[in-house]
Amino acid sequence: MVPQWIIEKKRDGQVLEADEIREFIEGYTAGRIPDYQMAAMAMAIYFKGMTPGEIAALTDTMLHSGDVIDTSAIALPKVDKHSTGGIGDKVSIILAPLAAAAGVAVPMISGRGLGITGGTLDKLGSIPRFRTDLTEKRFIEIIQDCGFSMMGQTGDVAPADKKLYALRDVTATVPSIPLITASIMCKKLAEGIDSLVLDVKWGRGAFMKSVAAARELAESMVRVGQAMGKNITAYITSMNQPLGRTVGNSLEIIESMECLKGKHLDGDLMQVTLKLTAEMLVLGGKAKDEAEAHGIMRGLLESGKAFECFKRMTELQGGDPAALDDYSKLPGASIVRDYVAPAGGVVARVDADGIGRASLVLGGGRQKTDDGIDPGVGLSNLAKVGQAVSAGERLATLHANDPAKLEQALAYVEEAFSIAPEAPAPEPLVVERIGR
Ligand code: URA
Repeated sequence: MVPQWIIEKKRDGQVLEADEIREFIEGYTAGRIPDYQMAAMAMAIYFKGMTPGEIAALTDTMLHSGDVIDTSAIALPKVDKHSTGGIGDKVSIILAPLAAAAGVAVPMISGRGLGITGGTLDKLGSIPRFRTDLTEKRFIEIIQDCGFSMMGQTGDVAPADKKLYALRDVTATVPSIPLITASIMCKKLAEGIDSLVLDVKWGRGAFMKSVAAARELAESMVRVGQAMGKNITAYITSMNQPLGRTVGNSLEIIESMECLKGKHLDGDLMQVTLKLTAEMLVLGGKAKDEAEAHGIMRGLLESGKAFECFKRMTELQGGDPAALDDYSKLPGASIVRDYVAPAGGVVARVDADGIGRASLVLGGGRQKTDDGIDPGVGLSNLAKVGQAVSAGERLATLHANDPAKLEQALAYVEEAFSIAPEAPAPEPLVVERIGR
């Protein structure tokens, strides 16, 4: 194979053969094809796109460039959820134990937060002594014991993606639907799952800024999952305002634990969580439809079984389960300050992007992959769009460990809120479902 002939073919908008894609990606991963040729290919894909068949071949090659977890020892149906990421998105922390308590196995490999988007691993990392660096063997043992485990990438999962993602990052080729599809799906399929539920976010705090773009990505990922023999469904959900009432690592663990204990069941966070978990139960054969799944989930939340399941997983992963009841054992902040409404009216906007930036400058997120984070900082008591407020009423509480960072964050928070005389037109939280 002559790499430049393959690049030329894609540049001219032709369809690549599966063998050509495989040879190109394998050559790049092994170092036989240099960065400059891969960069040219990524840019050609960015402009000319790929057919579903090409995307499936790309995903398959990237998946098999590294380890695939052997989950054959787990007898239960193996179902996971993946979110394209958002602000205050702590759904995984509630959904995984809830689905596990209902009888599906959840082998969840999560990521760290980058930029304004939080990461599940960082949130879990705020629980004292909690470990996310498990061996594959221990990961499987924990799932066999309590039905789920949440860890970071081990060993050599999808090395082709690691190399290609870094190159895309510096060659302006990240926002390409075929490349994003293959990048996300190869890592999820490496978990050895039978079924997958995708939460594709759209909006101010999301990667995809319009419903149309989110739909295109969701359809592409569903097609690839189906082509690879998986049961897969995607939901498009809104990420214009933060999900739930908190943003920040410890703070999001507290909110998640309260939800697992059966409180706050009616807010946007639980609406999305219950929708996605219900889909997991249906795909995993534990409920015949959404209504039955809702009955099962209500029972598991009210009885405390879902919370107990999370507690057990925490113990098995070395974390301090006492911190899940006594929140003073979680990292905190030395400065706690309310931000109040400058005027009365209705909350018309809580900009997820602005709140994400506020949390980032407080130290709750990282700008570069190797930055440290402060798990105790963030925002709580976030008001929601449509809420009536009077002048001087609290719209958010900021948690900081540095007065200068607090001032910077306050500027973002002020900018993020709008108060209007009238309530804005309601916007659907769950926009649509894509799949069979
Ligand atoms: N997340 C990924 O893992 N890959 C992408 O390409 C984009 C988001």
